[in-house]
Amino acid sequence: MNIVLMGCPGAGKGTQSAKLQQKFDLYHISSGDVLRAEIASGSELGKKIAAIINDGNLVPDELMVSMLEKIVSATEKGIIFDGFPRTVAQAEALDAMMKRLNREITEVVMIDLPESEVVSRISSRRQCKKCGEILHVDLNAPLTACPACGGELYSRPDDTPERVKHRLEVYHHDTLPVKNYYQNSGKYVEVNGNQSPEQVFEDLTKVLEKVK
Ligand code: AP5
Repeated sequence: MNIVLMGCPGAGKGTQSAKLQQKFDLYHISSGDVLRAEIASGSELGKKIAAIINDGNLVPDELMVSMLEKIVSATEKGIIFDGFPRTVAQAEALDAMMKRLNREITEVVMIDLPESEVVSRISSRRQCKKCGEILHVDLNAPLTACPACGGELYSRPDDTPERVKHRLEVYHHDTLPVKNYYQNSGKYVEVNGNQSPEQVFEDLTKVLEKVK
């Protein structure tokens, strides 16, 4: 099973990928996490990437594809792609990459969320520096530490309301055409993201059980 999980910023891709990874024993590749790990390494490349993603723009296609190809070719497990592909050029490159590796994308799932929900969801997001847990916090009673491991919580620099609005514009311009790219492939499915995380997970599980 090789799954592409699509959705606008804040749709719940990271939250659901973590659950699906466990349920279906998949290898989770989050393109955002790959870029943030490069930034955290302090490399020159990481500094260039930080300047792009902190403004809410996309890193160049060739760079993203080459970073991900190394990871994809190093695992034989089924993969869940979270946040990739984000442009039609990346979708074409993914098809070519999978063909070279004798693999194929089995399902493309869009977590559909109304844009009116996005800013409030993302403003309430905190992530644990230690275990990576994604949390939804009550802004009136913010958590001081990760409930799972006690690690420090942080807000992403690209999560301010202004940056989120820009990320949504980029999503419309560059990423929605990817939906059209997959829509006629017979592998494209949409799931309602505007319900509890448990219900979204149940719906995703039903979809993936069929292609297992
Ligand atoms: P990336 O990290 O992929 O960000 P994104 O796509 O904008 O998505 P988010 O991580 O913001 O949201 P999510 O859908 O994972 O939601 P989450 O589960 O966290 O990319 C960041 C940047 O990197 C990009 O802007 C770009 O610059 C660059 N980049 C990445 N990939 C690239 C690519 N392929 N090419 C070029 N550049 C690339 O949930 C959000 C919040 O909502 C959390 O607080 C969560 O607890 C809560 N929540 C989740 N589900 C629910 C629910 N059902 N109900 C209520 N709350 C919920």
